[in-house]
Amino acid sequence: MLAESQKSFDAEVVRQDFPILFQNVHRNRPLIYFDNAASTQRPNSVVEAMADCYRSDYANVHRGNHTLSERISVRYEQARERVRQFLGARHTNEIIFSSGTTAAINLVAHSYGERLQPGDEVMLSVMEHHSNIVPWQQLAARQGITLRWVGLHDDGSLDLEQFQSHLNSRTKLVAITMASNVLGVINPIAKLCEWSHAVGAVVMVDAAQAVPHMPVNVQELGCDFLVFSGHKMVGPTGIGVLYGREELLDAMPPFLGGGSMIETVTQDGFKPAGLPAKFEAGTPAIVEAIGLHAAIDYLETLGLEAIDQHEKRLATRFLLGLTEIPGVHILGPTSGTRVGLVSFTIEDTNSQDLAKFLDFRGFATRAGHHCAMPLHQHFAIPNSLRASFYLYNTEEEVEQLLATLPEILVRLR
Ligand SMILES: Cc1ncc(COP(=O)(O)O)c(C=O)c1O
Repeated sequence: MLAESQKSFDAEVVRQDFPILFQNVHRNRPLIYFDNAASTQRPNSVVEAMADCYRSDYANVHRGNHTLSERISVRYEQARERVRQFLGARHTNEIIFSSGTTAAINLVAHSYGERLQPGDEVMLSVMEHHSNIVPWQQLAARQGITLRWVGLHDDGSLDLEQFQSHLNSRTKLVAITMASNVLGVINPIAKLCEWSHAVGAVVMVDAAQAVPHMPVNVQELGCDFLVFSGHKMVGPTGIGVLYGREELLDAMPPFLGGGSMIETVTQDGFKPAGLPAKFEAGTPAIVEAIGLHAAIDYLETLGLEAIDQHEKRLATRFLLGLTEIPGVHILGPTSGTRVGLVSFTIEDTNSQDLAKFLDFRGFATRAGHHCAMPLHQHFAIPNSLRASFYLYNTEEEVEQLLATLPEILVRLR
């Protein structure tokens, strides 16, 4: 029996909102866009919201004493309020706009990281994206802290026993992804937060691959920080969000210095502004914040649960089909809690060649390490091929990929 939301979700109807999908690429092949984990496409409503802003409401925010500036400032703050509702945060002071997930993690690593001392530990997992690895490695080099790595089971799921055994009184921060951009694994964040808080550690959740695909509520998760990017959820590039618990953000020093983040400046120094301005130095991504507002409206009108179920259906069909192709090795669990992306390798086949041949047939997929080199080192493979699905992809497109792969393999082998 299909759930009510599944019955009403029609990807063929949804895709009409995305004109970019209706084009032919190599030798007149229709485009099939399966590179959504890297970046999604935008619906007309997001493009229009941004164009409308440039056409009628644009000025700088919070600075001018004129009508346009007042109007755009209201719209910018409405976008912040929309994000607050979307995440279930307590207050708009907890919503900081950044340029994306990477910038938000760097903010936490620099600003919260300042209080860490040599001997303190930051815990992260082998499945992290480089954005959630390198800022902590840089912090370790600056402050002499230690990084503790949590490993994976053979199926790619997080080793929860090791997670618990690594936690100790020196653990100050846990930086963990909610959904892996390679394995599709969804980590049990609420439980990880509970365990981490028991030893006094704060938890920063990389939700770049979660927020676009499923309902995420920061209070239900119990996390301390959570970050994501607009461009992976039908929103614009150049905008992302850092959610932080207000008491933590309040106590943290500003990261970047400049205009807008100060209350006063003298020749002797400055007094930082309150939240959220303290962490938004310089002119922010104003129109992009308004685009993000429109993106959230779009996703919530369709329903995050319905989107989640649709993607899972596509991934389940694809996983099943892949198991019938000789030589395929799937990274990550083939069932259970996962998001709608699938990475795999095929024996005696170079993933880059495969992606190129797929491109000739109209498929946009991705081959490489997907900014997760430690994960690929863990599996002792140089790269993998990833197909990542989203709300506008159809079962027919998945069937076409499954039918095309064996044809290409005959030519490649
Ligand atoms: C899990 C994860 N974290 C972080 C990032 C970095 O996001 P951005 O490049 O938007 O900063 C990505 C992007 O692929 C991701 O998948």
